[in-house]
Amino acid sequence: MMRASRCERNISAITDPGGPPALSAVPSVSDRTDTALDGCYTRGSAARDAAACKEGKSVISYPCTLARRHRSSTGRVATLAVVMFTAATVVTGCGSTSREPAGAEPPAAAAPAPNETSPTLIAEGRTIFRTDTFGDEQLWTDTLRLNEVVEKSVDPATALKVGLKVDADALPQGILDRVDLKSPGTTVALLKMNAVVGLQATVDANNHITRLGVTCALCHSTVDNSIMPGIGHREDGWPNRDLNVGAIIALSPVLSSDKKAIYASWGPGKYDPRYNQDGKSTPLVLPPAYGLAQVTNETYTAEGPISYWNAYVAVTQMGGQGSFSDARLGIDITHSPDLVTSKLAALRAYQHSLAAPAPPSGSVDAAVAARGRAVFDRTCASCHVGGGGTDNNRGLLHTAAETGVDGAYAARTPTKAYRTTPLRGLWQHAPYFHDGSAATLGDVVSHYNRARALGLTAEQQRELVEYLKSL
Ligand code: HEC
Ligand code: HEC
Repeated sequence: MMRASRCERNISAITDPGGPPALSAVPSVSDRTDTALDGCYTRGSAARDAAACKEGKSVISYPCTLARRHRSSTGRVATLAVVMFTAATVVTGCGSTSREPAGAEPPAAAAPAPNETSPTLIAEGRTIFRTDTFGDEQLWTDTLRLNEVVEKSVDPATALKVGLKVDADALPQGILDRVDLKSPGTTVALLKMNAVVGLQATVDANNHITRLGVTCALCHSTVDNSIMPGIGHREDGWPNRDLNVGAIIALSPVLSSDKKAIYASWGPGKYDPRYNQDGKSTPLVLPPAYGLAQVTNETYTAEGPISYWNAYVAVTQMGGQGSFSDARLGIDITHSPDLVTSKLAALRAYQHSLAAPAPPSGSVDAAVAARGRAVFDRTCASCHVGGGGTDNNRGLLHTAAETGVDGAYAARTPTKAYRTTPLRGLWQHAPYFHDGSAATLGDVVSHYNRARALGLTAEQQRELVEYLKSL
């Protein structure tokens, strides 16, 4: 177990947009106290952190603009406020701090802290999540030229085969009976109706796709298959585990055969969000974007809060036109106009509004699950706090060895360790672990039984699986 310390580097451009209120409301550096805000450690802990850094302990680094979440007695996030750091102070490395020149722009400092539960903000975030490309057509159209490939050779049957989903609510009544699912022209028509989940296209009068871009929904939404497999109502936040992002990118005519081979090797439901940064390939399972309202840091390796990661993906992976910098990664991208930063607050509110889906009725035996819960409380809850929680909210991370998973992906990240995954909607999103190495919940439990030498009986393992299905 590792204490995530605050060896921040300068990642000042990335803030959680809900955070920074007017500068006057931010306490001066000397006013700040050593307060742990669900894993966001503030300045007073320097000695402890320096010691942790010297020991080579893994660190979580993010600007402590993290919003403090006040919870009501029901555990709901009620308000967001209170900022601990501004860009005025930049911590340059383990144990050493320095000041930025006076007058440096605190990112988004003037934005008032939005009310995350505002229906207007959430609706705005939903539109962004579903339809905003942040100008990423420059990558998918101008660079990868996927618009040409889609127009020429991707009929709907092929599109469904690579896991793309069709939003039934965007289709005129009865149209599926009249169209040819074997014609690329039908794909163009579907794009024109804005019915392909996660793709946004501009189609001209001659049915040519002139611009094509992707949205967050590409990887983090699916459909309920109510019309036919792959066609139904949108389910936002549900990872699209059928989607073969690598295969789609590999369709591009401009990639070298070496790169195509890497993309093609990922398989459905996986994506490597660092391949285009470090050239390594250890693809991750697409995670759910629901059930995160109580979670302090996102991603398998907990680099930072939700907006940190949203900005990273929008700018460095989707190819959006926005600003992102993180000295830990050696990335410093500025775009003007910035089509990302101002949308992060709404996007976050929408994601936080997405609850994990309840298990289908009748799918869990409550009595067995209750016995499983007792096993869980004894053997798992120290890290998976209360089932849906994570000890990362207390600032902890885990080496790969602690849970017996592969460490190669973590080694590529700033934190070098894994966050205890908040368990949510587990029934919905097999396979499990960052690399999908456990195909079923039964595999997860037998993995832990082996890796952590738990000595659970077959019956206890069965009970534990039943409990996991209920989360
Ligand atoms: C090409 C596929 C893809 C797209 C597009 C994409 N993501 Fe992701 N997303 C991923 C992958 C892969 C991860 C896992 C990264 C990790 O955890 O280290 C991830 C992680 C996340 C997480 C963290 C979940 C958790 O448990 O901590 C959130 C939240 C998220 N994405 C939201 C978004 C938003 C919002 C957008 C649009 C700005 C977006 N993603 C676009 C693939 C994608
Ligand atoms: C030492 C802390 C720790 C303990 C104890 C622990 N876990 Fe985990 N758990 C983790 C970490 C870290 C991950 C992320 C690993 C990865 O993704 O590779 C994880 C991931 C998981 C996942 C995958 C979730 C997903 O969405 O992919 C499941 C399921 C899970 N644990 C269940 C359990 C169960 C059941 C137990 C008890 C037998 C348990 N864990 C004990 C830390 C722990």
